[in-house]
Amino acid sequence: MIAAGGFRDGRGLVAALAYGAAGVAMGTRFLLTSDSTVPDAVKARYLAAGVQDVIVTTKVDGLPHRMLRTDLVDALERSGRSAALLRAFRHASAFRRESGMSWAGLVRDGLAMKHGKQLTWSQVLLAANTPMLLRAAMVDGRTDLGVMACGQVGGLIDDLPSCAELVERIMAQAHATLGRLPTLSREHSGAAGGRCAPGVAQRAGLADPQ
Ligand SMILES: Cc1cc2nc3c(=O)[nH]c(=O)nc-3n(C[C@H](O)[C@H](O)[C@H](O)COP(=O)(O)O)c2cc1C
Repeated sequence: MIAAGGFRDGRGLVAALAYGAAGVAMGTRFLLTSDSTVPDAVKARYLAAGVQDVIVTTKVDGLPHRMLRTDLVDALERSGRSAALLRAFRHASAFRRESGMSWAGLVRDGLAMKHGKQLTWSQVLLAANTPMLLRAAMVDGRTDLGVMACGQVGGLIDDLPSCAELVERIMAQAHATLGRLPTLSREHSGAAGGRCAPGVAQRAGLADPQ
């Protein structure tokens, strides 16, 4: 089991291991590295965001998505149903052009998507919004025209280390956290020499803190 969602440091890694996970996946944290190929203007928007700037909206494609709060997302939140459908139709057309698909192919995919789920045609149409709007921001750097998906931890991240620096930092934090646990364990239980986390350390491939 790989734990995912909300992890950004070594403390989270140790916590997930303590819960029995084999490891963690980090999305937003690795998006915000100097190695990530996302345009700098986009990274700057993420770095500037605080926890209040990350919201959940259903207005992009009818499903809940967590993303940075921008003027566009605010406008989507305010927009009515017909504006949403018109936008969805435009995005479906653009998606069709860029993917080289025929309208018949797009309708076939839509039917497959509808099958077994109780989706209306307008929901199927809205599904084209997400890839087009994500791409506009994350690939083309148009923070005004696109949406920026973001984990809740986005509000807590304010630097752009390289991936190598980040992994080293996470491991150092994990070691430091594990090193503190025996002291915490002694304080809380009063037991002598409480090395409380050897299993956790082994699962992480970390040296057992002595
Ligand atoms: C740029 C970006 C794109 C994402 N795209 C999708 C997606 O297409 N579908 C999806 O289910 N989740 C998507 N997510 C959400 C992530 O899968 C994940 O649930 C979320 O980022 C929380 O994990 P984190 O705290 O490690 O970032 C995306 C997240 C980011 C940052």
